[in-house]
Amino acid sequence: MSLRPAVITGVGSYVPDRVLTNADLEQIVDTTDDWIVSHTGIRERRIAADDQASSDLGLAAARRALEDAGLGPEDIPLIICATITPDHLFPVTAAFIQDGLGAPAAAYDLLSGCTGFVQALWTARQFVATGECEHVLVVSADKLTSITDWSDRSTCVLFGDGAGAAVVSAGEGDPSATGLLAFELQTYGEHGSLLRVPAGGSRRPVDQEALDAREHCLRMEGPELFKLAVRGIPDIAERSLAKAGLTYEDIDWLIMHQANLRIIEAAARRLRVPDDRLVINIDKYGNTSAASMAIALDEVYRDGRLQPGHNILMVSFGAGFSLGGAVIRWGS
Ligand code: UT7
Repeated sequence: MSLRPAVITGVGSYVPDRVLTNADLEQIVDTTDDWIVSHTGIRERRIAADDQASSDLGLAAARRALEDAGLGPEDIPLIICATITPDHLFPVTAAFIQDGLGAPAAAYDLLSGCTGFVQALWTARQFVATGECEHVLVVSADKLTSITDWSDRSTCVLFGDGAGAAVVSAGEGDPSATGLLAFELQTYGEHGSLLRVPAGGSRRPVDQEALDAREHCLRMEGPELFKLAVRGIPDIAERSLAKAGLTYEDIDWLIMHQANLRIIEAAARRLRVPDDRLVINIDKYGNTSAASMAIALDEVYRDGRLQPGHNILMVSFGAGFSLGGAVIRWGS
Protein backbone atom coordinates (compact mmCIF):
# COMPACT_ATOMS: atom_id res chain seq x y z
CA MET A 1 0.00 0.00 0.00
CA SER A 2 1.40 3.41 -0.91
CA LEU A 3 0.94 6.01 1.81
CA ARG A 4 -0.17 9.59 1.30
CA PRO A 5 1.26 12.61 3.12
CA ALA A 6 -0.86 13.87 6.01
CA VAL A 7 -0.74 17.64 6.39
CA ILE A 8 -2.28 20.11 8.81
CA THR A 9 -4.62 22.29 6.72
CA GLY A 10 -6.29 24.28 9.48
CA VAL A 11 -5.73 25.20 13.11
CA GLY A 12 -7.75 27.02 15.72
CA SER A 13 -7.86 27.60 19.45
CA TYR A 14 -10.09 28.99 22.13
CA VAL A 15 -9.50 30.18 25.68
CA PRO A 16 -12.22 31.41 28.03
CA ASP A 17 -12.49 35.14 28.75
CA ARG A 18 -12.10 34.99 32.52
CA VAL A 19 -8.53 35.67 33.67
CA LEU A 20 -7.23 34.41 37.03
CA THR A 21 -4.01 36.18 37.99
CA ASN A 22 -1.37 35.17 40.50
CA ALA A 23 -2.59 38.05 42.67
CA ASP A 24 -6.07 36.46 42.62
CA LEU A 25 -4.56 33.16 43.77
CA GLU A 26 -2.81 34.91 46.65
CA GLN A 27 -6.33 35.46 48.00
CA ILE A 28 -7.21 31.75 47.74
CA VAL A 29 -4.12 29.85 48.97
CA ASP A 30 -0.86 30.56 50.77
CA THR A 31 1.21 31.55 47.73
CA THR A 32 2.86 34.56 46.12
CA ASP A 33 3.20 35.93 42.62
CA ASP A 34 6.95 35.73 43.10
CA TRP A 35 6.88 32.00 43.94
CA ILE A 36 4.60 31.14 41.03
CA VAL A 37 6.58 33.15 38.46
CA SER A 38 10.00 31.96 39.64
CA HIS A 39 9.00 28.28 39.94
CA THR A 40 6.75 27.99 36.86
CA GLY A 41 6.78 31.10 34.64
CA ILE A 42 2.99 31.40 34.97
CA ARG A 43 1.53 34.91 35.44
CA GLU A 44 -2.12 34.25 34.70
CA ARG A 45 -4.46 31.57 33.37
CA ARG A 46 -7.96 31.39 31.87
CA ILE A 47 -10.88 29.86 33.74
CA ALA A 48 -13.95 28.45 31.99
CA ALA A 49 -17.39 29.59 33.08
CA ASP A 50 -19.39 27.21 35.28
CA ASP A 51 -21.64 26.31 32.35
CA GLN A 52 -18.73 25.71 29.93
CA ALA A 53 -17.62 22.09 29.61
CA SER A 54 -14.59 20.78 27.73
CA SER A 55 -16.69 20.15 24.62
CA ASP A 56 -17.77 23.81 24.57
CA LEU A 57 -14.14 24.90 24.58
CA GLY A 58 -13.31 22.26 21.97
CA LEU A 59 -16.21 23.18 19.74
CA ALA A 60 -15.11 26.82 19.55
CA ALA A 61 -11.56 25.76 18.63
CA ALA A 62 -12.87 23.20 16.11
CA ARG A 63 -14.99 25.81 14.31
CA ARG A 64 -11.93 28.05 13.94
CA ALA A 65 -9.82 25.20 12.61
CA LEU A 66 -12.45 24.20 10.05
CA GLU A 67 -12.80 27.78 8.90
CA ASP A 68 -9.02 28.05 8.58
CA ALA A 69 -8.98 24.87 6.49
CA GLY A 70 -11.79 26.17 4.28
CA LEU A 71 -13.85 23.10 5.11
CA GLY A 72 -17.37 22.54 6.35
CA PRO A 73 -18.62 19.99 8.89
CA GLU A 74 -19.81 17.82 5.99
CA ASP A 75 -16.15 17.26 4.99
CA ILE A 76 -15.21 15.65 8.32
CA PRO A 77 -15.66 11.88 8.67
CA LEU A 78 -13.76 11.50 11.96
CA ILE A 79 -13.33 13.61 15.09
CA ILE A 80 -10.79 12.66 17.76
CA CYS A 81 -10.95 14.61 21.02
CA ALA A 82 -7.97 14.46 23.39
CA THR A 83 -9.03 15.28 26.93
CA ILE A 84 -8.71 14.18 30.56
CA THR A 85 -11.67 16.29 31.61
CA PRO A 86 -14.48 14.80 29.53
CA ASP A 87 -17.92 16.40 29.86
CA HIS A 88 -19.09 13.05 31.25
CA LEU A 89 -17.47 9.65 31.67
CA PHE A 90 -19.58 8.83 28.64
CA PRO A 91 -20.88 9.61 26.07
CA VAL A 92 -17.56 10.78 24.72
CA THR A 93 -16.76 14.48 24.54
CA ALA A 94 -16.08 14.15 20.81
CA ALA A 95 -19.76 13.24 20.38
CA PHE A 96 -20.82 16.65 21.74
CA ILE A 97 -18.40 18.33 19.36
CA GLN A 98 -19.72 16.21 16.46
CA ASP A 99 -23.27 17.20 17.34
CA GLY A 100 -22.35 20.87 17.77
CA LEU A 101 -20.70 20.95 14.35
CA GLY A 102 -23.36 18.85 12.69
CA ALA A 103 -20.67 16.71 11.09
CA PRO A 104 -21.57 13.28 9.66
CA ALA A 105 -18.60 11.87 11.53
CA ALA A 106 -17.42 9.08 13.78
CA ALA A 107 -16.22 10.53 17.04
CA TYR A 108 -14.16 9.23 19.93
CA ASP A 109 -12.01 10.45 22.78
CA LEU A 110 -8.41 9.90 23.56
CA LEU A 111 -8.09 10.03 27.34
CA SER A 112 -4.49 10.90 27.81
CA GLY A 113 -3.60 14.25 29.35
CA CYS A 114 -0.80 16.45 28.18
CA THR A 115 0.51 14.06 25.50
CA GLY A 116 -2.97 13.84 24.00
CA PHE A 117 -2.48 16.30 21.14
CA VAL A 118 0.56 14.45 19.79
CA GLN A 119 -1.16 11.09 20.26
CA ALA A 120 -4.26 12.33 18.42
CA LEU A 121 -2.22 13.77 15.53
CA TRP A 122 -0.37 10.46 15.27
CA THR A 123 -3.67 8.60 15.17
CA ALA A 124 -5.16 10.99 12.61
CA ARG A 125 -2.16 10.53 10.37
CA GLN A 126 -2.81 6.81 10.03
CA PHE A 127 -6.37 7.33 8.78
CA VAL A 128 -5.30 9.98 6.29
CA ALA A 129 -2.09 8.31 5.10
CA THR A 130 -3.81 5.00 4.37
CA GLY A 131 -6.63 6.65 2.41
CA GLU A 132 -9.32 5.76 4.95
CA CYS A 133 -10.20 9.46 5.53
CA GLU A 134 -9.57 12.63 3.50
CA HIS A 135 -9.73 14.77 6.63
CA VAL A 136 -9.64 14.13 10.37
CA LEU A 137 -10.49 16.78 12.95
CA VAL A 138 -8.28 16.63 16.04
CA VAL A 139 -9.51 18.57 19.07
CA SER A 140 -7.62 18.95 22.34
CA ALA A 141 -9.78 20.38 25.09
CA ASP A 142 -9.39 20.47 28.84
CA LYS A 143 -11.17 22.19 31.67
CA LEU A 144 -8.57 21.28 34.26
CA THR A 145 -10.10 23.69 36.74
CA SER A 146 -13.01 21.22 37.01
CA ILE A 147 -10.68 18.71 38.73
CA THR A 148 -8.46 21.22 40.55
CA ASP A 149 -8.21 21.04 44.32
CA TRP A 150 -8.38 24.74 45.17
CA SER A 151 -7.04 24.02 48.66
CA ASP A 152 -3.79 22.49 47.34
CA ARG A 153 -1.31 25.28 46.59
CA SER A 154 1.16 22.86 45.01
CA THR A 155 -1.24 22.21 42.09
CA CYS A 156 -3.98 24.86 41.93
CA VAL A 157 -1.61 27.60 40.78
CA LEU A 158 -0.53 25.60 37.74
CA PHE A 159 -3.58 24.95 35.62
CA GLY A 160 -5.87 26.74 33.20
CA ASP A 161 -8.63 25.92 30.73
CA GLY A 162 -8.51 26.00 26.95
CA ALA A 163 -8.74 24.13 23.66
CA GLY A 164 -6.94 23.81 20.36
CA ALA A 165 -7.81 22.01 17.15
CA ALA A 166 -6.16 20.91 13.91
CA VAL A 167 -7.53 19.53 10.65
CA VAL A 168 -5.31 16.76 9.28
CA SER A 169 -5.84 16.26 5.54
CA ALA A 170 -4.43 14.25 2.66
CA GLY A 171 -1.61 16.09 0.91
CA GLU A 172 0.38 15.57 -2.24
CA GLY A 173 3.94 14.50 -2.82
CA ASP A 174 6.44 12.57 -0.75
CA PRO A 175 5.08 11.61 2.72
CA SER A 176 8.61 11.71 4.12
CA ALA A 177 9.02 15.37 3.09
CA THR A 178 5.58 16.87 3.67
CA GLY A 179 3.32 17.48 6.66
CA LEU A 180 3.37 15.12 9.64
CA LEU A 181 6.81 13.62 9.09
CA ALA A 182 7.57 11.51 12.14
CA PHE A 183 6.27 10.53 15.57
CA GLU A 184 7.81 8.82 18.59
CA LEU A 185 5.64 8.00 21.58
CA GLN A 186 6.25 6.03 24.72
CA THR A 187 4.44 5.40 27.98
CA TYR A 188 6.03 4.44 31.29
CA GLY A 189 3.08 3.09 33.26
CA GLU A 190 5.23 2.32 36.28
CA HIS A 191 5.16 6.08 37.01
CA GLY A 192 1.40 6.42 36.54
CA SER A 193 0.67 7.31 40.15
CA LEU A 194 2.68 10.54 39.91
CA LEU A 195 -0.20 12.32 38.14
CA ARG A 196 -3.74 11.07 38.59
CA VAL A 197 -7.26 11.56 39.83
CA PRO A 198 -7.45 8.84 42.52
CA ALA A 199 -11.25 8.43 42.64
CA GLY A 200 -14.00 8.41 40.04
CA GLY A 201 -12.98 5.36 38.02
CA SER A 202 -13.84 1.68 38.34
CA ARG A 203 -10.99 1.04 40.80
CA ARG A 204 -12.19 3.66 43.21
CA PRO A 205 -15.70 5.01 42.59
CA VAL A 206 -16.46 8.34 44.24
CA ASP A 207 -18.04 7.98 47.67
CA GLN A 208 -18.30 10.34 50.62
CA GLU A 209 -14.91 9.25 51.94
CA ALA A 210 -13.28 10.05 48.58
CA LEU A 211 -15.04 13.42 48.44
CA ASP A 212 -13.92 14.30 51.96
CA ALA A 213 -10.31 13.42 51.04
CA ARG A 214 -10.72 15.38 47.76
CA GLU A 215 -9.67 12.27 45.84
CA HIS A 216 -11.92 13.27 42.95
CA CYS A 217 -9.38 16.02 42.22
CA LEU A 218 -6.04 15.94 40.45
CA ARG A 219 -3.01 14.84 42.47
CA MET A 220 0.51 15.43 41.27
CA GLU A 221 4.01 14.63 42.51
CA GLY A 222 5.55 17.68 40.85
CA PRO A 223 9.27 17.30 41.61
CA GLU A 224 9.33 13.62 40.51
CA LEU A 225 7.55 14.49 37.26
CA PHE A 226 9.92 17.39 36.74
CA LYS A 227 12.90 15.01 36.86
CA LEU A 228 11.26 12.47 34.54
CA ALA A 229 10.38 15.21 32.05
CA VAL A 230 13.84 16.79 31.96
CA ARG A 231 15.44 13.34 31.60
CA GLY A 232 12.97 12.01 29.03
CA ILE A 233 12.53 14.98 26.70
CA PRO A 234 15.96 14.88 24.98
CA ASP A 235 15.59 11.17 24.24
CA ILE A 236 12.12 11.40 22.67
CA ALA A 237 13.13 14.55 20.78
CA GLU A 238 16.24 12.92 19.36
CA ARG A 239 14.35 9.78 18.34
CA SER A 240 11.67 11.87 16.61
CA LEU A 241 14.22 13.94 14.72
CA ALA A 242 16.23 10.88 13.69
CA LYS A 243 13.06 9.27 12.33
CA ALA A 244 12.40 12.40 10.25
CA GLY A 245 16.03 12.49 9.08
CA LEU A 246 16.54 15.94 10.61
CA THR A 247 18.83 17.50 13.22
CA TYR A 248 18.28 20.28 15.75
CA GLU A 249 19.77 22.80 13.28
CA ASP A 250 16.83 22.08 10.94
CA ILE A 251 14.23 23.01 13.55
CA ASP A 252 12.52 26.39 13.12
CA TRP A 253 10.10 26.01 16.04
CA LEU A 254 10.24 23.95 19.20
CA ILE A 255 6.77 23.63 20.69
CA MET A 256 6.84 21.92 24.06
CA HIS A 257 4.07 21.11 26.48
CA GLN A 258 3.61 24.25 28.57
CA ALA A 259 3.89 22.75 32.07
CA ASN A 260 6.77 24.78 33.47
CA LEU A 261 9.00 27.44 31.91
CA ARG A 262 11.99 25.96 33.70
CA ILE A 263 11.39 22.58 32.01
CA ILE A 264 11.04 24.26 28.60
CA GLU A 265 14.22 26.30 29.01
CA ALA A 266 16.26 23.42 30.44
CA ALA A 267 15.17 21.13 27.61
CA ALA A 268 15.85 23.76 24.95
CA ARG A 269 19.40 24.19 26.30
CA ARG A 270 20.01 20.44 26.18
CA LEU A 271 18.51 20.23 22.68
CA ARG A 272 20.64 23.22 21.60
CA VAL A 273 17.58 25.05 20.27
CA PRO A 274 18.03 28.84 20.65
CA ASP A 275 15.49 30.89 22.63
CA ASP A 276 14.10 32.66 19.56
CA ARG A 277 12.87 29.32 18.23
CA LEU A 278 10.89 28.48 21.35
CA VAL A 279 7.13 28.93 21.45
CA ILE A 280 6.13 29.99 24.95
CA ASN A 281 2.72 31.02 26.22
CA ILE A 282 2.68 29.45 29.69
CA ASP A 283 2.84 32.96 31.18
CA LYS A 284 -0.66 33.69 29.80
CA TYR A 285 -2.43 30.33 30.06
CA GLY A 286 -0.64 28.12 32.59
CA ASN A 287 -0.77 24.38 31.99
CA THR A 288 -3.82 23.56 29.83
CA SER A 289 -2.99 19.84 29.52
CA ALA A 290 -3.87 18.38 26.10
CA ALA A 291 -4.70 21.84 24.76
CA SER A 292 -1.37 23.44 25.54
CA MET A 293 0.60 22.60 22.40
CA ALA A 294 -2.42 22.99 20.11
CA ILE A 295 -2.94 26.53 21.43
CA ALA A 296 0.78 27.28 21.00
CA LEU A 297 0.71 25.96 17.43
CA ASP A 298 -2.29 28.14 16.61
CA GLU A 299 -0.59 31.20 18.10
CA VAL A 300 2.68 30.84 16.20
CA TYR A 301 0.70 30.26 13.00
CA ARG A 302 -1.74 33.15 13.42
CA ASP A 303 0.86 35.74 14.38
CA GLY A 304 2.78 34.94 11.19
CA ARG A 305 5.94 33.49 12.74
CA LEU A 306 5.25 30.05 11.28
CA GLN A 307 5.89 30.01 7.53
CA PRO A 308 5.47 27.36 4.82
CA GLY A 309 8.43 24.98 4.76
CA HIS A 310 9.29 25.55 8.43
CA ASN A 311 10.09 22.48 10.52
CA ILE A 312 8.38 22.12 13.88
CA LEU A 313 9.51 19.81 16.67
CA MET A 314 6.77 19.12 19.20
CA VAL A 315 7.60 17.48 22.52
CA SER A 316 5.02 16.56 25.12
CA PHE A 317 5.05 14.81 28.49
CA GLY A 318 2.47 14.10 31.13
CA ALA A 319 0.12 11.61 32.70
CA GLY A 320 0.94 7.99 32.08
CA PHE A 321 3.84 8.86 32.49
CA SER A 322 3.95 9.48 28.76
CA LEU A 323 6.26 11.18 26.31
CA GLY A 324 5.51 12.15 22.73
CA GLY A 325 7.50 13.73 19.93
CA ALA A 326 6.33 14.91 16.53
CA VAL A 327 8.16 16.46 13.60
CA ILE A 328 6.04 18.51 11.20
CA ARG A 329 6.97 20.32 8.00
CA TRP A 330 4.47 23.13 7.69
CA GLY A 331 2.58 23.30 4.41
CA SER A 332 1.36 26.29 2.44
O1 UT7 B 1 1.47 18.69 32.70
C1 UT7 B 1 1.78 17.46 33.27
C2 UT7 B 1 3.21 17.37 33.61
N1 UT7 B 1 3.53 18.27 34.69
C3 UT7 B 1 4.76 18.38 35.08
O2 UT7 B 1 5.63 17.79 34.51
C4 UT7 B 1 5.05 19.27 36.28
C5 UT7 B 1 6.48 19.11 36.69
N2 UT7 B 1 6.78 19.72 37.99
C6 UT7 B 1 6.87 21.07 38.17
O3 UT7 B 1 6.67 21.85 37.26
C7 UT7 B 1 7.35 21.55 39.52
O4 UT7 B 1 7.75 20.45 40.29
C8 UT7 B 1 6.26 22.35 40.31
C9 UT7 B 1 6.05 23.69 39.64
C10 UT7 B 1 4.99 21.57 40.36
C11 UT7 B 1 6.76 22.63 41.74
O5 UT7 B 1 7.97 23.33 41.71
P1 UT7 B 1 9.21 22.80 42.58
O6 UT7 B 1 10.31 23.76 42.38
O7 UT7 B 1 9.46 21.38 42.20
O8 UT7 B 1 8.65 22.99 44.04
P2 UT7 B 1 8.47 21.90 45.20
O9 UT7 B 1 7.24 21.11 44.95
O10 UT7 B 1 9.76 21.15 45.38
O11 UT7 B 1 8.24 22.86 46.43
C12 UT7 B 1 9.27 23.73 46.92
C13 UT7 B 1 8.71 24.52 48.08
C14 UT7 B 1 8.05 23.65 49.15
O12 UT7 B 1 8.31 24.24 50.39
P3 UT7 B 1 9.45 23.67 51.36
O13 UT7 B 1 9.07 22.23 51.64
O14 UT7 B 1 10.73 23.78 50.59
O15 UT7 B 1 9.38 24.56 52.57
C15 UT7 B 1 6.59 23.77 48.86
O16 UT7 B 1 5.77 23.58 49.98
O17 UT7 B 1 7.70 25.42 47.62
C16 UT7 B 1 6.50 25.20 48.39
N3 UT7 B 1 5.38 25.45 47.50
C17 UT7 B 1 4.81 26.65 47.35
N4 UT7 B 1 5.09 27.85 47.92
C18 UT7 B 1 4.33 28.89 47.53
C19 UT7 B 1 4.73 24.56 46.68
N5 UT7 B 1 3.75 25.19 46.01
C20 UT7 B 1 3.79 26.49 46.41
C21 UT7 B 1 3.04 27.62 46.05
N6 UT7 B 1 3.35 28.80 46.64
N7 UT7 B 1 2.04 27.59 45.14
